[in-house]
Amino acid sequence: MTIPWTLLMQSARAATANCHIPYSHYPVGAALLADDGSVWTGVNIENASYGLTNCAERTAVFKAVSEGKRHFRALVICGGTADSPAHPCGACRQVLAEFCPPDMPVRVIPLLPPAEESPIDHTLAEYLPCSFQLDSSREKALEE
Ligand code: THU
Repeated sequence: MTIPWTLLMQSARAATANCHIPYSHYPVGAALLADDGSVWTGVNIENASYGLTNCAERTAVFKAVSEGKRHFRALVICGGTADSPAHPCGACRQVLAEFCPPDMPVRVIPLLPPAEESPIDHTLAEYLPCSFQLDSSREKALEE
């Protein structure tokens, strides 16, 4: 599958128009590519109880999974500046590891220009090596 990077970058950037960020004023947009070619955007949604904030990446994953998608091929995150772009936080890395393959490319682009000139690409495994995976066969064996 050829990854439509331009579409993903445009989608992640456009999504930032819908961020709910009255506290941090720090917009983040995400665009997640499912294996059927569909693109799922997400934004950060903050809350007066700060800890309840949902990041852009998790919003995108939850939207897609709740619509029946389970397999993903690429992610673009748009936020921050070229000097300090919005790399995914630890919680988002673990949520991504639940549904995305370790070799999935994750591209980070700054929100502020010159954005497209400085994408940063990593695999999910580079962001989260040795991700926690529950060994369900072991759980089952313990029950018996
Ligand atoms: N944020 C994201 O949306 N994604 C990340 O991976 C890191 C942080 C958001 C959460 C909060 O609304 C704002 O950035 C500042 O922390």
